[in-house]
Amino acid sequence: MPYQSADIFNQYALYSVLEQLGFYLPFPPWLSPIANDKLATLLYLRDAPVPPIPTVRIGTGRDVGKHLYEVALADLTYPAIVKPAGWCGGGGVNLARNAEDIRGLATLAQGGDTTLVVQPYLGDGTVDYRVYVIDGRPYPRVLRRTPEPGSPVSNASRGGIMDFPPTPPELVAATAYFAEKLPIPFYCIDFLFDGERFWFSELEPDGVIAPEFHDPQRALQRELTRARFAAYRDGHTRWLANGGAAPTLAHLSGMVTT
Ligand SMILES: Nc1ncnc2c1ncn2[C@@H]1O[C@H](COP(=O)(O)OP(=O)(O)O)[C@@H](O)[C@H]1O
Ligand SMILES: [Mg+2]
Repeated sequence: MPYQSADIFNQYALYSVLEQLGFYLPFPPWLSPIANDKLATLLYLRDAPVPPIPTVRIGTGRDVGKHLYEVALADLTYPAIVKPAGWCGGGGVNLARNAEDIRGLATLAQGGDTTLVVQPYLGDGTVDYRVYVIDGRPYPRVLRRTPEPGSPVSNASRGGIMDFPPTPPELVAATAYFAEKLPIPFYCIDFLFDGERFWFSELEPDGVIAPEFHDPQRALQRELTRARFAAYRDGHTRWLANGGAAPTLAHLSGMVTT
């Protein structure tokens, strides 16, 4: 959220220091802005075997009211999805019927320092498939989120229904591409299914591992969580074996001169 910007900057500073000191970072700072901004994600992963959703980004700032972004909307079809470029949980996701709706939403977003993205609406009943990638391999079950009738947003926080079917073969096959571009032990790739085909939607390096409410033991959620943290541990072990050095006392006291 924009009001957390100062905390986020502090974290970038801290993690840059830890990186320079030689710590192993399973969630490296270079990846964080790419994952946070939905257009940056789709550009970094633009050659994905599942096509990225066409996306226009509307920045924030004092000039939003001049509507200069409208030159980029010429090919947009309506209704369109208008949503924050870097929030989560389905927050701020809206449907726009026309450019005038976008003007209204863009000025609201401006008041909250929020960058937007605009995409074609993939249609009522669009379903979100989250693939959990652990150590470069797709978990055999996806988190599928289906929106409530009448809602365009499938997140649980907006009333979406969650279940865990087998990971579709097309998404299993796509994982090799993502694993090549994302050398980290755990992340989630989200795809939208419009009834006919999949679209690549977003990357969540800290994506939620949702509970399966029908199982009081939460066996799947627990297994996934264990696998995630085992993958971090294995990543650290591999990093050490490949010459990564654990920080020494001299590093930690800031006395290193090279
Ligand atoms: N272009 C789109 N077409 C159809 N539905 C969409 C589109 N973009 C987002 N949605 C719906 O809104 C939900 C939240 O959007 P998403 O981009 O995943 O943002 P968040 O980071 O908040 O999860 C998606 O899971 C999907 O249900
Ligand atoms: Mg999402």
